[in-house]
Amino acid sequence: MVSIALPKGRLGEKVYSLLKSAGYGCREIEEKERKLLFLSDNGKVSYFWVKPADVAVYVELGAADMGICGKDIIDETEPDLYELLDTGLGKCRMCVCAKENFEDNEGRLKVATKFPCIAKKYYESMGRDIDIIKLNGSIELAPLLGLSDVIVDIVETGRTLRENNLAVFAQIEDISARLVSNKSSYNFKYAETEKIRLDLEDALNDKTR
Ligand code: PRP
Repeated sequence: MVSIALPKGRLGEKVYSLLKSAGYGCREIEEKERKLLFLSDNGKVSYFWVKPADVAVYVELGAADMGICGKDIIDETEPDLYELLDTGLGKCRMCVCAKENFEDNEGRLKVATKFPCIAKKYYESMGRDIDIIKLNGSIELAPLLGLSDVIVDIVETGRTLRENNLAVFAQIEDISARLVSNKSSYNFKYAETEKIRLDLEDALNDKTR
């Protein structure tokens, strides 16, 4: 038996559909809205729902053998785990955004973000001095209220930016959901974890064919 941490919410629904098409469906997960722990219909996998940002914690510490986790969280927290497959689900971009009329005077920059490590690494690579303002959501408000000069945040459809008169000034990286594995689980349950990875890969190829 392999345990898989699923990210709750919109991404989780897409991820579960992929697992179902790969043969790991679970009737109960489709029926019960508040239950957190499930067994797949084929008895090979146990699932549990966690906050998307917590998937890597469960997997790194071995409470889950595998999980599906956004590349943004992996790059922000740098967990000690294996990244096995890019599912291509939940595609979006990590970007530097600001007010449409923002002019960079190359001075010390105030950067608001939910991703302080990604932002720090990005600006360090350019040798740029910045002050990080860590926020937990509604990041787009920061430049509008003068809290920051720019934001480092996820852009999916671009709608939030457009509706707030903000624009992308640079792209840091492409983001998508990755299948990850606990390092010891990958060794001790090699056959089972590899089978799941291959089944998911096949299901993804069928979808794009
Ligand atoms: C994310 C992100 C942006 C928005 C981008 O926020 O932080 O605000 O989605 O999506 P879009 O390009 O399709 O508009 P989320 O919905 O997670 O809410 P949050 O403000 O609580 O972070």
